[in-house]
Amino acid sequence: MIYKINNIPVTDLAKEFGTPLYVYDANKIEENIDNLRKNISYKKISIKYACKANSNLHILKLIKEKGLGLDTVSYGEVALGLKAGFLPKDIIFTGDNTTEEEFEFCVKNNVIINIGSIFQLDLFGKKYPNKYIMIRVNPDVGTGHHDHCITGGASSKFGIYIDQIEEAKKVAKKHNLRIKGIHSHIGSGILDTDIFIEAMQIILKESKKFDNLDIIDIGGGIGIPYYEHDKPIDLKVLGEKITKSIEEFNKEYGKEVELFIEPGRYIVGNAGYLLAEVVNKKKTPLFNFIGINTGFNHLIRPMAYGSHHRIINGSNYNSGKTGFYLVAGNLCESGDIFTKINGEKEPYKIDEPNYKDIMVILDAGAYGYSMASNYNFRERPAEVMIKDGIIRLIRKRETLEEMIRGMEI
Ligand code: LLP
Repeated sequence: MIYKINNIPVTDLAKEFGTPLYVYDANKIEENIDNLRKNISYKKISIKYACKANSNLHILKLIKEKGLGLDTVSYGEVALGLKAGFLPKDIIFTGDNTTEEEFEFCVKNNVIINIGSIFQLDLFGKKYPNKYIMIRVNPDVGTGHHDHCITGGASSKFGIYIDQIEEAKKVAKKHNLRIKGIHSHIGSGILDTDIFIEAMQIILKESKKFDNLDIIDIGGGIGIPYYEHDKPIDLKVLGEKITKSIEEFNKEYGKEVELFIEPGRYIVGNAGYLLAEVVNKKKTPLFNFIGINTGFNHLIRPMAYGSHHRIINGSNYNSGKTGFYLVAGNLCESGDIFTKINGEKEPYKIDEPNYKDIMVILDAGAYGYSMASNYNFRERPAEVMIKDGIIRLIRKRETLEEMIRGMEI
């Protein structure tokens, strides 16, 4: 059987657009957004899509059409968001170690600016007094699927530490900066609702120390199941707890604040697939290898975090004849292995592969293309999006000429 994405056989996609190829299921993205909306019933909620997860312009447009706002971290993401049609008031900029030029760009474009350090608050205030801003607070707790993705707690570089809030207020006051929102983001890939709510409670408690806030932003981080045995986060429970917490806060605070959340992975993660072709097979005394025509230059998560991504033989799916294989990329490093279990390379059970079969790496929609590089001087893949069975090329495959052009000086 041939594996299909949104009713299109992967072999057809590979034939038409070549490999390696990123494929996105637009209907799944919409469904994920609907799920968030359905489960978090608080009426003044604003979902800001964290576009670092996937910043393809056409995906941004699709998400904008669904009525979401945007969470950005660089002036490039802000510019892209504006190009996609997001209004400045719907874009939040949460830079880290932001340059003056970036602040200037954000001020000029009137997006919401969220500042995560007292030093930067002072820098910003000197240049732009009297502005409305938000501040990012580190609530002293953090979590995430890997140490690299934990953004709260004493070892994290992010946010104004919770014990320095009074000082932050003083600095803001010095420049007459009006703090209209409190933000926090404790990490990425969270499958446990308790810690999410614990951090939210801490932030809400601290927020009471501020007068006249309009916005509470509890960040992103909602995880998705990557392993077959992973249990998806209970969005219903999470949604109920979020709504209850914010409504209780409102009562005490005497005002109905707007609630921002900033999911990235949850919206696009399971909607993306990386298609690659089998170009090699070999054996060592330890392993059977399948070699494919992509590598960690196109999907770095297994290499960077030991992340598990399911991989299936799209040309020969559910054939009944399987083997155990390590799937190796085409880069010149031993770490270029896609099959990882608990952070270590491990063979996966895969339908018997033949030369030129299309291998499909699942759950590659978030932090796939957006973290891709030209390592080993290879082109980044093309991207296509399928909506209601209609296929659309949304980014051309990079060319060698494009890669060389910037150096022709
Ligand atoms: N808001 C802020 C301030 C963030 O730093 C992030 C992610 C998000 C929202 C969205 O988090 P999400 O909902 O996608 O978990 N490259 C890593 C993930 C890095 C996340 C960075 N910040 C990975 O592939 O797992």
